[in-house]
Amino acid sequence: RSAIAFAPASVGNVGIGFDILGHALSGAGDRVHVRLIDAPEVRISAIHGADRELPLDAASNTAGAALIALRDSLGCAEGFEIEIHKGIPFGSGMGGSAASAVAALVAANGLLRQPLPLAELYPMALSGEAVASGSRHGDNVAPMLLGGLVLAVGERAPIKLPVQAELYCAHAHPHCVVETRAARAALKGAYELGEFVQQSGHLALFLTGVARGERELIAAGLNDVLVEPRRAPLIPGFAGVKQAALEAGALGASISGAGPSVFAWCWGKASAERVGRAMVEAFAVADLKADLLVGPV
Ligand code: HSE
Repeated sequence: RSAIAFAPASVGNVGIGFDILGHALSGAGDRVHVRLIDAPEVRISAIHGADRELPLDAASNTAGAALIALRDSLGCAEGFEIEIHKGIPFGSGMGGSAASAVAALVAANGLLRQPLPLAELYPMALSGEAVASGSRHGDNVAPMLLGGLVLAVGERAPIKLPVQAELYCAHAHPHCVVETRAARAALKGAYELGEFVQQSGHLALFLTGVARGERELIAAGLNDVLVEPRRAPLIPGFAGVKQAALEAGALGASISGAGPSVFAWCWGKASAERVGRAMVEAFAVADLKADLLVGPV
């Protein structure tokens, strides 16, 4: 027996929620085909569509590691064979490694005699994420599992946050690579207490704005003073792209996941389309071609 599942791309961090906040992004994703096998093991049979070589060794692959965690946690007698179809570019800031893990888990779960509720796959998805990035953060895997905007604090069950229908995301993926591990290394070093207080305030304003559907609070909150300044130098043209998004009417803009993609939150689809075009044009000024996705948060 076999099953196929799709996991969408995501916008990790949403700027101010480093490692704890993310939302799903329609228009791109990974598809994974999982077969039940008699051998008590997890193996990867093929990876299609990858723009660079990814590990075929199950324990070193995000999808493989997630299914090893699933077998270990449920004590499964059967094993899984995995075939991955990558739709998310490597090192794009769209949660590519997380998507393979989540799609593999959802497909394998569908083959179990008693499938788990999707939220219960979260700890195993974190095991997949950890293989790629070296840390068990849930800002990508949680929204991929639950959809929409999700708060994922450590190992706690992720919390889906209701959002206004008018909230749209414009997402520009420039054709260059930033490796998550390098982008995380850029964050090492001391932070001022004042910066931390400012960031906490922004996250609080942002979440309150989302809960109340108040644009002004979302705009005031979507301002990352801790992570963005240290990662911006890794992204050619970042300052110009962010400025273009804000001038075109975005509520706020920042780095998607570990970058180099840049996202902007906008009020209404027409605004998001206008903002997205401005971001792509601004990347062109930095000599980078960029792909645009526009969709509801
Ligand atoms: N929260 C993560 C980061 C997302 O910004 O490093 C990428 O895995």
